Amino acid sequence: MVLLAKKHVALYVSGGIAAYKAAYLVRELIRHGAEVRVVETAGAQEFITPLTFQALSKHAVYTDRFAQLAPDEVAHIELADWTEIALVAPATADLIAKVANGIADDFASTALLATTAPKFVAPAMNVHMWENPATQRNINTLKADGLHIIEPATGFLAEGYSGKGRFPEPEEIVATVNDQLIAADTSLPLHGQSVLVTAGGTRERLDPVRYLTNNSSGKMGYALATAARKLGAKVTLISAPTALPQPAGVAYVAVDSAATMRTALLARYADAQMVIMAAAVADFRSPTVAANKIKKTATDYQLTLTKNPDILAELGQQKHHQFLIGFAAETQNLLTYAQQKLTSKHADMIVANDVSSPQVGFDHDTNAVTILQSNQAPQQLPLASKEVIAQQILQVALATRKLQA
Ligand SMILES: Cc1cc2nc3c(=O)[nH]c(=O)nc-3n(C[C@H](O)[C@H](O)[C@H](O)COP(=O)(O)O)c2cc1C
Repeated sequence: MVLLAKKHVALYVSGGIAAYKAAYLVRELIRHGAEVRVVETAGAQEFITPLTFQALSKHAVYTDRFAQLAPDEVAHIELADWTEIALVAPATADLIAKVANGIADDFASTALLATTAPKFVAPAMNVHMWENPATQRNINTLKADGLHIIEPATGFLAEGYSGKGRFPEPEEIVATVNDQLIAADTSLPLHGQSVLVTAGGTRERLDPVRYLTNNSSGKMGYALATAARKLGAKVTLISAPTALPQPAGVAYVAVDSAATMRTALLARYADAQMVIMAAAVADFRSPTVAANKIKKTATDYQLTLTKNPDILAELGQQKHHQFLIGFAAETQNLLTYAQQKLTSKHADMIVANDVSSPQVGFDHDTNAVTILQSNQAPQQLPLASKEVIAQQILQVALATRKLQA
């Protein structure tokens, strides 16, 4: 997998208030295994000294076009040729304008003009500077020229008010760069393929403040979405409410009830190559949702439930090219129920987990599953983190799909 490990990253730091955060960015890049060299503009050196970046990157910092340290090479060309990824972070409005117009009047702009490697630009500035039509025109030019823009975040600015223009967190910048490397890697087994993943426990509303749900945390589905993305897939995560952060590089569709999850799935099913139904979808819902909070009664309150549509069965019936993976969470007769599910739902694979076992299933960080596929012996994946289980499930699915092809 082509990721940041061992990659030559040239980090260009320009003169914004966020320049100090670039020091954390160097550390984050190195933590991911990248080899980092830093360029500072004259503006950047007003905010943070080259000594800091030299100590962190273990390499002299490039600052001056005409200070040629090695007599047998031209420094900005040597750096440009060495670079596998150029990252301008933080990028000032000024440096963005220079790059958009091909100006080369200092070390940073000259080396960037000479660099053919993929370029990432993380702008950070005052919201009015960001929204200025000149800046927006320059950003559009950079996009048209094939540079990747890492959008500034919205939040509290150094000026003391909120707006768009904040420098994203170093972890976010590294995740965006990594994700772009994944998207561009045609050797990955799921490159360019659409994978739908459902996650979380659906919420079936009773009234404006109450709903029926289950113990699903969404961790297994989110781990599967991340694992599929790392294999190059274009992943859409259709998620019931969870407490988890959205995985990087994954399109996210927020749903709540089984009905909204069904609609989101059916709208995308025809274009999907693989569908992984890891959500815990409610079997029942209330036939009506009270407009106002249901009042306390003097006697018992009777709740009538109606059956939800069986989404997995519906997808199984409509299946043509899709590889369909369902989950079976049971507390008894696990393999019998899972085997029935595999056949009756026309799924290609059922991942069965005994949610009554310790450290398995709902809300745990670990899982242990048995994979059932038609005409194949059950495969057991012993207790491991949900990340590892997710990778193993996808490996099994890819192997089976290869056999079917
Ligand atoms: C205190 C201070 C903070 C600044 N912060 C920013 C900023 O966050 N973003 C930006 O684009 N410019 C900022 N500027 C303006 C740039 O420093 C100025 O445009 C400079 O010429 C940029 O040079 P460079 O692009 O070569 O680094 C700031 C200036 C000062 C004095």
